[in-house]
Amino acid sequence: MIEFKNVDFAYESDSLVLENINLKINDGEFVFIVGSSGAGKSSIFKLLRREEVATKGEVIVGGYNLSRLSNKDIPTYRRTLGVVFQDFRLIKSMTVYENVAFALRVTNVSSRDIRRRVPYILGLVGLGPKAKKYPDQISGGEQQRVSLARALVNNPALIIADEPTGNIDPALAFDIMHLLFEINRAGTTVLVVTHDMKLVDKFGGRVITIENGKVESDVVKESKL
Ligand SMILES: Nc1ncnc2c1ncn2[C@@H]1O[C@H](COP(=O)(O)OP(=O)(O)OP(=O)(O)O)[C@@H](O)[C@H]1O
Ligand SMILES: [Mg+2]
Repeated sequence: MIEFKNVDFAYESDSLVLENINLKINDGEFVFIVGSSGAGKSSIFKLLRREEVATKGEVIVGGYNLSRLSNKDIPTYRRTLGVVFQDFRLIKSMTVYENVAFALRVTNVSSRDIRRRVPYILGLVGLGPKAKKYPDQISGGEQQRVSLARALVNNPALIIADEPTGNIDPALAFDIMHLLFEINRAGTTVLVVTHDMKLVDKFGGRVITIENGKVESDVVKESKL
């Protein structure tokens, strides 16, 4: 599903922020990516979304070679991903409901399916009562859950989430992570970038540590649930 082959990456002409990354993530895996602030986690995430392109080497996702993807194929590629951004990126002029519905509308889902699917997903992340609010009228944790709902609503084969529990209290963070695990159990590949080592310890699974732009370790930890 995901492969990084000898990937180097630098922002413009700066020094390398990722150096010789080699990773293989199979269909159906659940993977945590951890590491200090500035280690390069979000940069990996940007390469996966094809917001940035590897300076050297290749990134392959779901059969798309991102180093060779033409500009016109980028939107099509991105629609195959469910993405939770570290900074949410909600549309401020749209309600919670509309933000989630929009993700379906751009893929030509029928209005009938949108009316069925959006309330279901909002319920799943506990936001049913906030459907009519605008992003500025809800808390940071709630915005984060809208971002998660938007990532889930298309039933993508791959979900990548950058700090999906960063603004959420511990009990809710547990529920959100649990939800991602359930989705993974149903077959979706899930990649979660997180600082929250308590959650990582609790859930276990494959944990890739990035430090100074390199893969420092890649291990499977036992679940404590
Ligand atoms: N747009 C940019 N232009 C230049 N340098 C950048 C840019 N974005 C990030 N960097 C630098 O790249 C390095 C890796 O940043 P990255 O955002 O990938 O870290 P991170 O592991 O996600 O950190 P955090 O946990 O704080 O989110 C850092 O040194 C950062 O300062
Ligand atoms: Mg980051």
